[in-house]
Amino acid sequence: MVLLGVNIDHVATIREARQGIEPDPIAAAIIAELAGADGITAHLREDRRHISDRDIKLLKQTINTRLNFEMAATEEMKAVAIDILPYAVTLVPEKREEVTTEGGLNVIRQKEYLKEYTKELQSHGIIVSLFIDPEFEQVKAASETGVEYIELHTGQYAEAFNTVEENVAFKNLEQAAAYAIELNLRVNAGHGLNYNNVKKILSIKNIEELNIGHSIISKAVLVGLNTAVRDMKNILDSF
Ligand code: PXP
Repeated sequence: MVLLGVNIDHVATIREARQGIEPDPIAAAIIAELAGADGITAHLREDRRHISDRDIKLLKQTINTRLNFEMAATEEMKAVAIDILPYAVTLVPEKREEVTTEGGLNVIRQKEYLKEYTKELQSHGIIVSLFIDPEFEQVKAASETGVEYIELHTGQYAEAFNTVEENVAFKNLEQAAAYAIELNLRVNAGHGLNYNNVKKILSIKNIEELNIGHSIISKAVLVGLNTAVRDMKNILDSF
């Protein structure tokens, strides 16, 4: 069974459009859990454009499932993580000008840094995952940092879905996942997944959890969050 991590950043994005108090991502997290989410994912960005420090703290105190804290590998974020002690940290690259996380981490370039960074988080009992593109060299470098998990970036596949490039993008994910398992890494995946393109991803062996945000929150705007999460959970459970 593949687990569903619901990314609630987009709820906070709507709140920040008015810099007010609604909708509250904490309420969204509770509804997502009641609808069957196996975990809640939130990204505290350097510029605090959606999730705030208050949100991440309250999420940890409120949710009953697992908090996957997405963050950049900075000293500032390390201090936040050690303060709130989420179930897991997923390290992502972050550029201030991007609309969303654009590519995976370049683990090869900062392997030694990430090794030390990971060790410190793990010494506080936090599981660490690296968000990477489905490339063998990145998978190998990730395994050398000592992390427990990688999260494979499905964005390229999502963009290629229903085009001639879909099969190549899919194969890359399949092969990267198989290689990661060989190297004793555990595998999550996410980014750009929706109610259609997610089905093929579920045929990849050994993926433990999918982190899905935009598509679920988009559907929630129209049919409600409870239904949107349940519908996605049903797809994941049907494979
Ligand atoms: N996984 C990671 C590492 C992400 O950065 C994001 C986007 O914040 C997601 C999953 C979810 O992507 P989407 O919102 O496109 O479903």
